[in-house]
Amino acid sequence: MAPETTLPSIAKQTWLEPLEEGLQKGLAEAFKSDALRGKPVENALHGVWLGHPLHPALVGIPLGAWTVAFVLDLVEEATGERHLRRGADLAVAVGLAGAAGSAVTGLTDWKDVQGPPRRTGMVHALLNITATALYVASAVQRKRRNRGAGRALAYAGFGLSMTASWLGGHLVFSDQIGVEHKAAAEAPSDFVPVARLTDLSEGKPHRVTYQDYPMVLVREGERVFALAEICSHLGGPLSEGTVEGECIRCPWHGSLFRLEDGEVVESPATRPQSAFEARIHGDQIELRLRSNVIEATETKAKD
Ligand code: FES
Repeated sequence: MAPETTLPSIAKQTWLEPLEEGLQKGLAEAFKSDALRGKPVENALHGVWLGHPLHPALVGIPLGAWTVAFVLDLVEEATGERHLRRGADLAVAVGLAGAAGSAVTGLTDWKDVQGPPRRTGMVHALLNITATALYVASAVQRKRRNRGAGRALAYAGFGLSMTASWLGGHLVFSDQIGVEHKAAAEAPSDFVPVARLTDLSEGKPHRVTYQDYPMVLVREGERVFALAEICSHLGGPLSEGTVEGECIRCPWHGSLFRLEDGEVVESPATRPQSAFEARIHGDQIELRLRSNVIEATETKAKD
């Protein structure tokens, strides 16, 4: 499959726009409904508890199970080994269960995606939904002992799910959906002066940079909190967000981060913001990465 022809042709399908908008609106409404009200369900589906998006962790279930079914079906067809049938049927069923979880988490992540990746994401979802429908039909045919039709439907589903995976890979590696967003420059690990206390207004986010590394400062009385400026979700500017109690909310999709340590309080972000220790010398605010962040970075480097 040639990305240079496939992806531009997906981008040209402007007729999909109303469907994209309608679906995103519907999903947003669903998360406001009584059944899903509040953030705990959405946080869980995004994967805040896991520290990274849940969707990519679940997609391995249908892909793995359906690959097993594909191989067992092929071998059975080629050799006539009938005892492989139970394994193939079980793999189709496991894949269907995994596809349900994968679809729910994927749609939860997709509802906040804008721009060209939104269309790629919807085509990815439509392909997966069609593949799942083919596997449901395959399971029905298998139950009716119609092996030939069951296998043919599963082969078609497998082809579509592989195509959908390829698009999913593009969304992650090229469009950077579902990856942690952060500044390319290095955060200061030793105290460096970044601003004067008098530059800051109480409770208002204030952007500063140190050697191209952007940070957001929030002053609460004589205390100053500092986090990385670039939202870990999709790169939104936290300094344009709003301070809510002890947290700051990203202006783009509403992720809420604790000012003290950068932890995610509300998704869609799943990765915490880097947090900084602040000290004040006279009127000068100095910052450095919190020691736990430095230790984690050093451990990672040693690995
Ligand atoms: S960029 Fe999406 S919540 Fe910040």
